Amino acid sequence: MQNAKCKINESLREELLSIIKDLKRYLYYLKEIGIDYIPVNASPLTERSLISSKLSPEKSLQILRKEIGDCRKCKLYQGRTQIVFGVGNPKSEIVFVGEGPGRDEDLQGEPFVGDAGQLLTKIIESMGLKRQDVYIANVVKCRPPNNRNPESDEIESCEPFLLRQLEIIKPKIICALGTFAAQTLLITKEKISSLRGNFYYYHDIKVMPTFHPAYLLRNPGDKKLVWEDMKKVMKELNLKGKGNG
Ligand code: URA
Repeated sequence: MQNAKCKINESLREELLSIIKDLKRYLYYLKEIGIDYIPVNASPLTERSLISSKLSPEKSLQILRKEIGDCRKCKLYQGRTQIVFGVGNPKSEIVFVGEGPGRDEDLQGEPFVGDAGQLLTKIIESMGLKRQDVYIANVVKCRPPNNRNPESDEIESCEPFLLRQLEIIKPKIICALGTFAAQTLLITKEKISSLRGNFYYYHDIKVMPTFHPAYLLRNPGDKKLVWEDMKKVMKELNLKGKGNG
């Protein structure tokens, strides 16, 4: 009897030691990613809710970037120079979402820095904003080979990162640039030409689909339509603007 009790005590002790070890490892991990505070009355707590409740959007985005690491969830990693995470103001009321990095973006690690990016910057400035006031990201974070369209498995792998960026930033408006951003965010196969100009929802965030700046470079006549769309966005955000696109 005494022996059996000793055995139970010994196995309990081992189990407790292993729990303490795991707990210690977890606390070290939290500290490493910047969390040194655990609210006592908030249970049950996931690591994620801790991150969003305590940390600034800037820090949360940094942690997300760290979590993405050297992502190899889809085949796009094979041809990329680097992951193009996103850029801009982590507290922006508006997020512009494009399709995926092109050659310039892949090389520079920043979305919309090529010719289409310059046009996007002009559109942003016409709205009375600066590029650094807004947040810019893409549906896929790695360049598709030869700028081909992203494939559905690639979008599926990458979308959680975009969703997390939007959860952290909590913008009032998402501007979906072009077919892929609009169709992905709105889960539709509808053409951008029929989607644009109307507000929809992505989770609880208003989405304005509009033409992609690269399309506008080929079809400058449609710039006025994008400007119509941006005026609706500006009204939602109480922006005065300073141009006609
Ligand atoms: N086109 C996009 O959709 N995204 C970029 O970052 C650049 C060009």
